Formats: sequence, C-alpha cells, structure tokens
Amino acid sequence: MNPASPAPVVLVTGAARRLGREIALALAASGWRVAVHYRSSKEDAIKTVADCAELAGDSASFCADLDDEAAVRGLLPQVVQHFGQVDAVVNSASTFEHDSAASFSFASLEKHMRSNTGAAIVLAQALHAHVLARQTLGAVPEQTGRFAVVNLLDQKLWNPNPDFFSYTLSKAALEAANTMLAIALAPQVRVVGVAPGLTLTSHLLSDEKFQALHKLSPLGRSSSPADVAATVRFALENASITGTTLLVDGGQHLMKFERDFSLM
Ligand SMILES: NC(=O)c1ccc[n+]([C@@H]2O[C@H](COP(=O)([O-])OP(=O)(O)OC[C@H]3O[C@@H](n4cnc5c(N)ncnc54)[C@H](OP(=O)(O)O)[C@@H]3O)[C@@H](O)[C@H]2O)c1
Repeated sequence: MNPASPAPVVLVTGAARRLGREIALALAASGWRVAVHYRSSKEDAIKTVADCAELAGDSASFCADLDDEAAVRGLLPQVVQHFGQVDAVVNSASTFEHDSAASFSFASLEKHMRSNTGAAIVLAQALHAHVLARQTLGAVPEQTGRFAVVNLLDQKLWNPNPDFFSYTLSKAALEAANTMLAIALAPQVRVVGVAPGLTLTSHLLSDEKFQALHKLSPLGRSSSPADVAATVRFALENASITGTTLLVDGGQHLMKFERDFSLM
C-alpha cells in the first residue's frame, strides 16, 4: 500500500459470517478499509465491522437483499458515499439451496441466478462505472491494475455432479461472466475467480463427516478459510491477474464425486 494515498476500500458481500467474514478480516489486516455487506445477519455484521475497524481503522456495514436488483444497484453508491471511493468488490454472498434435475424449477433457477450471478455482475458493472468516473476527474491513472472484482466460485464446476442443480448453474454462469467481464472491463478493472473446495461445514453435515470429507483430496486436506482469504487477497493485490480462476481446494477438482459433499 502507498502510505501517501488513502487506504483502498473493498466491498465484501456476505461478510457478516463464515467465509465472507474471514475474507473481510484478512483484507483489513492487509490495510484495506472494508465495507461489510450483509442481508439478515445484522449482529454478526456489527461484530465483523468492529473487528475490521480495529485492524484497519475504518469499516462500515451495508444491508442489501441481493435478490433485489434495485437494492444491488443502490449498494455501491452507499459505499462510495461513506468512504469516498471503492477500489474492489469481493462477491462472496451466495444462495445455496438444494434442488436436483427432478426438482428443478424456474423459481429455484431464478433465485440462485439473481443473488449468485446477477448481483455479482451488477456490482462489477458499478465498480467499473465508478472507476471510469474517477479517471475522468483525473483522480486515478488509467492503467493501474489496482481495481478488481473477485468472484467466489466452487471447485464443483470442474468436478460436476447434479446435486444443488440451480446453485451449480448459477456459479457456472458466473464463471463464464468472469471471462467476459475481464475482457469488457479492461483495462480499468481486473476480474478474478477464486474457487474453494469444501471449506466450511453446513447444517447438513456432522462435524465428524465434515472432517472426513475435508481430507478427501489429493493433498489430504481441502481449503481452510485462511487459505481462501489469502487467495482473495493475492488476487486483489496482484496487478497482472485477470480473466482466470484460482482453485483453492487441495486438488478436489481433480477427483470425481458422484454427490455434493453435503449429501455424501
Ligand atoms: N463454504 C464452503 O465450503 C464453500 C465451498 C465452495 C465455494 N464456496 C463459495 O464461497 C462463498 C462463501 O461461502 P459461505 O459458505 O461463507 O457462504 P454462505 O454461508 O452460504 O453465505 C454467505 C452469506 O451470503 C448471504 N446471502 C445469501 N443470499 C443472499 C441474498 N439474497 N442477498 C444478500 N445476501 C445473501 C448471507 O448473508 P446474511 O447471513 O446476512 O443473510 C450469508 O451469510 C460462496 O460464494 C460459496 O459459493 C464456499
């Protein structure tokens, strides 16, 4: 970070809890001012903000339902109003509801596509417009590689099974968007995917089962939250990376799983 300029600002969606919180804290520890987005986990968001502020001096929370396009379009301007700028977006929030080829419906597809795909693209679009506006004012140079979007994907795109059908389709669409956006938003904004393996358990798995599944990878361990957060930080701070995805999964994508981990 350049000590002469104000610390950069990152918006992390779904940052109240779990992986989003881990990413927010890792970025705050690296000097980023963090805008903590949440939907329903207000108390957790307040705690994440307090912990980030202790590390980086400034942090604030922002509530938005990412199913709602108007709310998504309102999010980045609120962050700019608070911090005066936004330099990066980490799209971590995600709907993860089970359906299958048999239970698939337009409603389930639409729900996952709204929050997991549409919202991520609209936030990338908004960051690009904001950077262009700053460049027009001469506030930032044209080609810096410093502005970026990181999209959280999933190793299962490289190792597909038909569980969580709509979730997987929404992440596959986001992976395609990752490439298209990297081309469309260059040179102002870089776009990078980060694809974790099984990292955190869900209500569908006992602790014992989670530990066993976490070991199921060529490296004998899948990703930890710290591994994923460090990769997001690397993607944001490496000015040369765009249009690609970093898989952080102990190699789980090299294996073949018949079912989603949650249902194994
Ligand atoms: N956890 C893993 O092992 C794993 C593995 C592979 C990939 N990933 C990816 O990594 C990312 C983070 O994973 P995670 O397990 O931390 O996610 P998560 O717990 O399933 O969801 C994170 C947050 O997303 C927010 N969210 C969901 N729907 C929303 C909506 N419509 N509007 C606004 N916010 C919404 C929720 O915020 P509120 O609580 O505030 O409502 C939730 O706390 C996801 O993109 C996921 O696909 C995770």
